[in-house]
Amino acid sequence: MRNFNEHNITEAVLARLNGTSSPRTKEISSALVQHLHAFVREVRPSQDEWQQAITFLTRTGQICSDTRQEFILLSDALGVSMLVDAINHEFPGGATETTVLGPFYVADAPEVLSGENIAKPEDGPLMLIEGRVLDTSGEPVAGAIVDVWHADADGYYDVQKEAKSYSGRGRVRTDAQGNFWLWGSVPAAYPIPADGPVGEMLGVQGRHPYRPAHVHFMIAAEDCETLVTHLFLASSDYLDSDVVFGVKDSLIEPVIEVRPGKTPSGADVEATVPAMRREFVLAPVRHQRE
Ligand code: BEZ
Ligand code: FE
Repeated sequence: MRNFNEHNITEAVLARLNGTSSPRTKEISSALVQHLHAFVREVRPSQDEWQQAITFLTRTGQICSDTRQEFILLSDALGVSMLVDAINHEFPGGATETTVLGPFYVADAPEVLSGENIAKPEDGPLMLIEGRVLDTSGEPVAGAIVDVWHADADGYYDVQKEAKSYSGRGRVRTDAQGNFWLWGSVPAAYPIPADGPVGEMLGVQGRHPYRPAHVHFMIAAEDCETLVTHLFLASSDYLDSDVVFGVKDSLIEPVIEVRPGKTPSGADVEATVPAMRREFVLAPVRHQRE
C-alpha cells in the first residue's frame, strides 16, 4: 500500500501490527497507534510544535541518570502514575490504600533493627515512626519487610545530596506481633526536581512543584500484595494540590506527641517526641495477568 494520507494512515499502521507475536503486545501497540494518531488529528501540530515535542522528550531522557528519573517524574506530574496505581490496586475493603512510588526509592536500602535511628543529626528534629502490619483478617504479619524513606527538614532526600550516604531511609522487619519502629526525622514538604523539562512544563502550565510532607512505606510479606504508600502529615501545606496527585484522605495522619514510656509497638521513649503511628493492612496476594 502507498499514498498514505490523514484518512488512511492509521488503518495502514494498524495492519502492519498484525504479525505481532504476543496478543497483549499487539493490543497495547494498536491502542498506542490509535490514540497517538487521534491526538495528532485533534491537536493538528505544526511541524515546529511537533519538533518541540520531540525535543522535550529527548531532553527528558537526557537528564536521566542513576539518581534522577525524569520520565517517572513526567508520568507523576501528568497524573499517569496515579492512574496506573488506581487501576492496579482495587484492593479489598480494609486494605491500606496505595499511592505513587516516586523516584527516590532505593532498592537496597540499609537493613536496620527496630529501634534504630535512620536519620542524621542534620536531618532535623527526631520523629518516631512506628507501625503494625496486619492482614485483612486482622492477624499480625510477622517478618514483613518494611522499607521506609523520607525527606529531611529541608525537603531533600539522601540521594539528592552531595554526601552519597544513606539517611532517612531504612528497611526493618516486623516482629511476631507485626510491630516495627524507627527513629527518623520530621520531613518537610518539598518541590519535585524542577530544574529540568518537567519543571519547565509545570511552569508553563502555571503549576507549583510541591508535594505535601510525607513518609514513604513499601511493605512486602509472603502471601500479601506489596503495599506502596505514604503517610502524609496532617499539618502539611499542599495536601489539596500535591503536584503528583498522590494524596488520599485515608493516608493523612497527624504527628502526635508521645510521652516517655513504652509505646504500643514496643518503642522505649525517654523524652516527649513527635511521632507518626499507623496500622497498615496488606491485601492478600492475587494472581498476576498471564
Ligand atoms: C516522592 O514522593 O518521593 C515523589 C513522588 C513523585 C515525584 C517526585 C517525588
Ligand atoms: Fe517523597
